[in-house]
This record gives sequence, structure tokens and C-alpha cells, in this order.
Amino acid sequence: MEDDTILEIKNLAVSFASETGRIRAIDDVGFAVPKGKTLGLVGESGCGKSVTALSVMRLLPKPSGEIEQGEILFNDDDIVKLPTDRMQKIRGNRISMIFQEPMTALNPVHRIGRQLEEVFCLHFPGMKLKERRDRSIEMLMNVGIPDPVKRFREYPHQISGGMRQRVMIAIALACKPELLIADEPTTALDVTVQAQILALIEKLQKDTGMSVMFITHDLGVIAEICDDVVVMYAGRVAEHAGVKSLFKNPRHPYTRGLLSSIPRLENKRKSRLRIIKGMVPGLDEFPKGCRFQNRCSEVMEICKIEQPGMTAVGNGHCAACHHLSL
Ligand SMILES: Nc1ncnc2c1ncn2[C@@H]1O[C@H](COP(=O)(O)OP(=O)(O)OP(=O)(O)O)[C@@H](O)[C@H]1O
Ligand SMILES: [Mg+2]
Repeated sequence: MEDDTILEIKNLAVSFASETGRIRAIDDVGFAVPKGKTLGLVGESGCGKSVTALSVMRLLPKPSGEIEQGEILFNDDDIVKLPTDRMQKIRGNRISMIFQEPMTALNPVHRIGRQLEEVFCLHFPGMKLKERRDRSIEMLMNVGIPDPVKRFREYPHQISGGMRQRVMIAIALACKPELLIADEPTTALDVTVQAQILALIEKLQKDTGMSVMFITHDLGVIAEICDDVVVMYAGRVAEHAGVKSLFKNPRHPYTRGLLSSIPRLENKRKSRLRIIKGMVPGLDEFPKGCRFQNRCSEVMEICKIEQPGMTAVGNGHCAACHHLSL
């Protein structure tokens, strides 16, 4: 792995148990997150973004979800092979994650302060109670929560969705992770709060040099905060490029479809990118050949027979489409 890379995923395949046997949710996924940069992971609902993120955290639901093959290199370790105790030391410490559903990730029966203090407890076992408390309140303040001393004593249900998301971010950042995985951290929030949270992540990134893997449906957000972008479709990587290159010269028909269906501001909150004609095939109905074939306006015979491999099309830009290898 290159020195300037914090995370490198290679050839990752994850499957889930089903009535008809194991089915693969993601297949041959690979990309790298450069140190100190933000990589965006984008694609329609169900394309495997969260499964990829949960694999990095080793938090796939057990016993159903399983990494079948591949490597997830974090610095010099392969996360796939790490013993549980070593993974626990990395998780929530060197890599932390903001989950898609803040309410399910916060514990409803514990006060917010206690949940933050627990992070310090776990990762700095010798830390005195007073310091834990001070550091927790400071964290709440850092994420822009007004009246942090009062909030510290409240329960998750007593605060708004936007505030809960900030608490999640405070928890995720409390240990100054080297890598932050943010899974749609702003989808459920209104536009103003969204902007504040993005600014906050960017500020913390500047201050601490952390790397970020940012999952979103929102290409506007991608354009604003990402350095690199990975576009996923039906469990595979369709295109990977620097953000400028991707927007200027998208090479996969799916990426072009996404770019031409950027949601309008007024319905941004609820929109899921389902605007490209047709549906993503289900996990158990992936066709032979390219998985985008049934929706692709440029489909050729070969697309129905062979899965396209990744073709390099420029500096750090590659895409999986048969048109590129003609
Ligand atoms: N616990 C699970 N058991 C079985 N299948 C699962 C499980 N979790 C995810 N999947 C399947 O894996 C595929 C990828 O799901 P994933 O949650 O990664 O999608 P996503 O890209 O994060 O979508 P969204 O944008 O809606 O969050 C989907 O087809 C989903 O149904
Ligand atoms: Mg998801």
C-alpha cells in the first residue's frame, strides 16, 4: 500500500445468508482513500455503500453477513484478518463511523453525556472522571451544540434530529480518528443543518488531518466536499475518479445518468436517485454480463455476455464499461 494511502480495499466480496443460500451484496469492490482527503461513495439505494462501510468497521450483521474474499488494508493491517480484540482497538478510536440512522446508533436509555464519556472511558481507561466530563462537554461544544452542559444531562429523545446527528458526530470524533466513515450523515436533516454539519466535518478534517469516506446520494454534496469519488452500481464499482474529472468527463453511462438526474433543491430532502429509467436488479437476479445492461441506452451484445473490467481512462480515472475497451 502507498504511503499516502490510509485505507485500501481490494477485491472485496460480501455475502448474506438467504433462504436460497448465500447471495453476494458486493463483489470485487476496490478503491483507496488517500490520507487527509475525502472520498465520496455514491450510488442508488441498495448498491452496497453501507455494506462496504460496515465491512471496513467489521460490523456486518452476524452471523448472516460475511466477508467472502478480499483485503481491507488500514495502514499495515488487513482488517479482514485482524483478531477481534485488535479490531476493537481500531474501531471507534482510529476509525470511527457516523451511522445512517442516528437514533438506532444512540442508546435511548442513557444520557447523552454518559454515551460520550463512555468513548473516553473505553479508549483512555486511566482518564479521571472530571477530565472525561470536561472533554465530553468540549466535544459537544465543538460540534456546535448550544448549551452543552444542559444537553450533556439529557436523553436522545429530548433533542432534535439535527442535534442527535451532532451528538453522533461528537462521539465519532471524540477520539480524533485517522479515518471517519460518514454514512449519509446529513440525508435526514434540513438544508441549513446539513450545510453546518458538512462545514464542521471539513473544519475538523483541516484541524486534525483525518481522512474521510463520505457516503451520500447527493452529488451536490460530493461536488462540494470530496476529492475523489467512487460510483457504485449493483454491488460493484462502476467508476472511480477525482471529483473534477468525474463531473467534467463521466465515462460510465450510469454516472452520466446520475449526473443528469441531480435532484432539484426543493425536493432534495426526500429524493433518492431513482430517476434513471428502470430498476436496479435485486441481489438474486444479477444478469450475466454488465449489471447495468437493462437500463443502459448504449447497451451492446457483449454487455449481455461479459462483465466489463475496470479500464483506466486517465490520471486516476477508471470505469467499468465495454465501450471503453473497444
Ligand atoms: N443484513 C442484511 N441481510 C441481507 N441483505 C442485506 C443486509 N444488509 C444489506 N443487504 C443487502 O445488500 C445490498 C446493499 O445494501 P446497502 O445497505 O449496502 O445499500 P446502500 O447502498 O447503503 O443503500 P442506501 O442508499 O439505501 O443506504 C442490498 O441489496 C441490501 O438489501
Ligand atoms: Mg446505506
